[in-house]
Amino acid sequence: MRGQVKALVLSGGKGTRLRPLTYTGAKQLVPIANKPILFYVLENIINLGIKDIGIIIAPETGEAVKQAVGNGNKWGVNIEYILQPEPAGLAHAVKTARPFLKNNPFLMYLGDNLIGTNLRKFYQKFLEKNPDAQILLKPVTDPSRFGVAEINKKGQVLRLVEKPKHPPSNLALVGIYMFSPKIHEAIAEIRPSWRGELEITDAIQQLLDWDCPVLSDILEEWWLDTGKKDDLLKANTIVLDEWIKRDVQGKAINTTISGRVVLPASARVVNSQIRGPVVIGENVQVENSFVGPFTSVGHGAKIINSSLEHCVLLDGVEIINIERLEDALVGRNSRVVKNSALPKALKLMIGDDSVVEIP
Ligand code: DAU
Repeated sequence: MRGQVKALVLSGGKGTRLRPLTYTGAKQLVPIANKPILFYVLENIINLGIKDIGIIIAPETGEAVKQAVGNGNKWGVNIEYILQPEPAGLAHAVKTARPFLKNNPFLMYLGDNLIGTNLRKFYQKFLEKNPDAQILLKPVTDPSRFGVAEINKKGQVLRLVEKPKHPPSNLALVGIYMFSPKIHEAIAEIRPSWRGELEITDAIQQLLDWDCPVLSDILEEWWLDTGKKDDLLKANTIVLDEWIKRDVQGKAINTTISGRVVLPASARVVNSQIRGPVVIGENVQVENSFVGPFTSVGHGAKIINSSLEHCVLLDGVEIINIERLEDALVGRNSRVVKNSALPKALKLMIGDDSVVEIP
């Protein structure tokens, strides 16, 4: 292997699909079980023993990403930030990162991709076989939303297309790739796609056209591209279901706490019921309420006289007098307050700093 393997995390882009949540924040910082998606990404990289990590940031959200992640000291790794002036595509991000990547092989990881496994096998294979590119594929029901691979019976990659109208297979490209420095030559050859972006998919296709070795694996575990509301709620459900352990430290007065619930010492629950899996953040206040399965409650949130389940509440949210809130994703510092009886469950997606008042 030529040189130390580095990692490049893509945390730029516009995040338009998660609007209004991402008008005010980076989509990679949206929390799943109260931890930003980007942290799951970084932990997966750090677990491989990779020490040099570059993070692509956008002008609008870069500062927030820097503040949340820091310089890597806390994990014993080196993190550098690389400003991409505009979201001109995944291959453009690699081009922008060239001074950081130099001629080292690297792992590229999209900052909004979450997978239900570590990458040890995938990484080991790259180190052993030394291909120019290695990709992960996952069968999906809606391949047109992704990069799509056509493979033969032996699993060899024949062709790759980005968001095709008529997908040649149901195998989507997961946003996790390994590359040798040959990818830079391929990127130099490609032109922007119909959506005006330099596509990494096209660069890998260029490697195929040159007969360079491109290896693929099918991902057996779950994979979520968290760029959409339903995927976010689904990701929250899966992570709470699979990775959360009971850890109750906060004050619980006249309250029943059942199942896998995380309640930090600074949180306070009175006259309520919490049924896991649930994660509650720091300084949260719950009163006369039911917090049901698959709910994440962000730091500093308040839930008073309400009942909710399968919800993601970001930091500082207030839910007051809501009889039943389900499948809701509520942005930071938003308030949902009801002042009289309402017959049905509410289903909401609410951006940051909003107020929903129900008369
Ligand atoms: O999630 C997997 C898919 O990711 C693949 O199947 C596709 O082949 C690949 O093109 C990509 O498609 P998306 O359209 O979902 O990519 P998106 O624009 O959402 O960007 C993915 C991540 O990269 C996101 O965290 C933002 C970041 N990004 C994106 C662009 C376009 C950058 O940092 N810079 C950019 O220029």
